[in-house]
Amino acid sequence: MWQPKITAPILTQRIPTPPYGKMQDRHVVSYDEYIKTGGYIGLRKALSMKPDDVTEEVKKSQLRGRGGAGFPTGLKWTFLPKVEEGKDPGMRYLAINADESEPGTFKDRLLMDFDPHLMLEGIAIACYACRLKKAYIFIRGEYHHQAKVLENAIKEAYENGIFGGKGLLDGASNFVVDCYVHRGAGAYICGEETALLEGLEGKRGWPRIKPPFPALKGLFGKPTIINNVETLAHLPSIIENGWEWFSKQGCNSTIGGPPSWGTKLMGMSGHVNQPGCYEFDLGIPLRTFVEQYCGGMRNGKKFKGAIPGGVSMGILGTDQYEAELDFDIGRKHNVLGLGTACPTVFDEDTDMVAVARNIARFFKHESCGQCTPCREGSGWLYQLLGRIEEGDAKTKDLDLALEIATSMGSMPGTTICGLADGNNWAVRTIMNKFRPEFEARVRPTFVPVRVTVGAGAKG
Ligand SMILES: Cc1cc2nc3c(=O)[nH]c(=O)nc-3n(C[C@H](O)[C@H](O)[C@H](O)COP(=O)(O)O)c2cc1C
Ligand code: SF4
Repeated sequence: MWQPKITAPILTQRIPTPPYGKMQDRHVVSYDEYIKTGGYIGLRKALSMKPDDVTEEVKKSQLRGRGGAGFPTGLKWTFLPKVEEGKDPGMRYLAINADESEPGTFKDRLLMDFDPHLMLEGIAIACYACRLKKAYIFIRGEYHHQAKVLENAIKEAYENGIFGGKGLLDGASNFVVDCYVHRGAGAYICGEETALLEGLEGKRGWPRIKPPFPALKGLFGKPTIINNVETLAHLPSIIENGWEWFSKQGCNSTIGGPPSWGTKLMGMSGHVNQPGCYEFDLGIPLRTFVEQYCGGMRNGKKFKGAIPGGVSMGILGTDQYEAELDFDIGRKHNVLGLGTACPTVFDEDTDMVAVARNIARFFKHESCGQCTPCREGSGWLYQLLGRIEEGDAKTKDLDLALEIATSMGSMPGTTICGLADGNNWAVRTIMNKFRPEFEARVRPTFVPVRVTVGAGAKG
């Protein structure tokens, strides 16, 4: 049986357990409270080390990005141009990805709602380690409340000498960092890191062709690191306690890849009794998450399937309820990956054709339109799935839908960014893992019944 390795929450130590109550009643941890509960100790320790040693510690911790791709954070930092000790690095940026627009994902919001200084401390550590002079937090347009919380916390951080002035931590280092909030306008694509940079530059959020990679040519053409909110929130405790401490949480890879060390914020939604955002060691089985922590399936229904973390990851089938939520999940269970680790669970009554159609609608709406396979393919897919759902399609349309899905994406090499891969994996895995439901819809005997999941309006 799965047992947690952590004895107390780490990222959520100052955050109440779910349910969270109304937004306006939420208590935000102030700078003073943060300091009283051990805040900014990690930054103080980092500033007593050489910047490269901080990077080395993060590298050894094997911290993997929490934004969706799981790329090792320390390794990403080493792609920046090298700076000789004591030399001015010139302008370099940190872009913090707080766009959080993946459907079903609401974990970064928790940190910003309750404990903003944890991320700000992580920002200061990353900027020091990588010699980044300005940090821009790109926050999802709909996060009005969180943007205000962050602006207030940044103001407190300036007043207390964390940013600006004589240098980090009131002159403990003479390296000066400035931090700003930049509000998005509500486009999912702006979470893609290069679209985010375009957005920060005041342009339309169109992903850039890579290379050049942002570490060499990023924001305003300067070296830039892009990290997710939760990734940065891990840094204070890693620096304070060391990489060995971090390696004792989470799990090792069972198939020979990099480990899934550390804890992860996991937001549960869908047909469970107690949805919410929880912190677990990486590796918790989905069944344990649902049955032990979320009060089981709603109305005592049976589990049918789950999206592991954002709709772009594809779906876990009925026989994959035991799947462990770690970075190996993609290769073990034929999904794209762990993604944001915010599962959406479906019960036995869910119409999977409607789920596929609803997801296809999302991607059609959010495609930025630069690449033909994504722009046109997402529209065709949505139309085809609509016809299948309404019993208006033929068996050959199932193969056509699969062919369109499979041919779009940066992995097949037909598009600039990964949005199309998300569409591909979501539609393809739902169609393959729940094939009989799709076949039943194209039989001449099928009588259409309209059952949809989520925001249902078509068009
Ligand atoms: C279409 C698309 C949307 C994305 N949305 C987000 C997002 O909302 N938040 C995020 O952190 N990463 C998002 N990503 C991943 C980012 O491109 C990038 O990998 C991540 O911010 C890097 O941070 P990390 O290494 O700390 O995870 C998205 C990627 C794609 C392709
Ligand atoms: S894959 Fe889609 S979203 Fe990404 S750049 Fe191309 S058209 Fe835009």
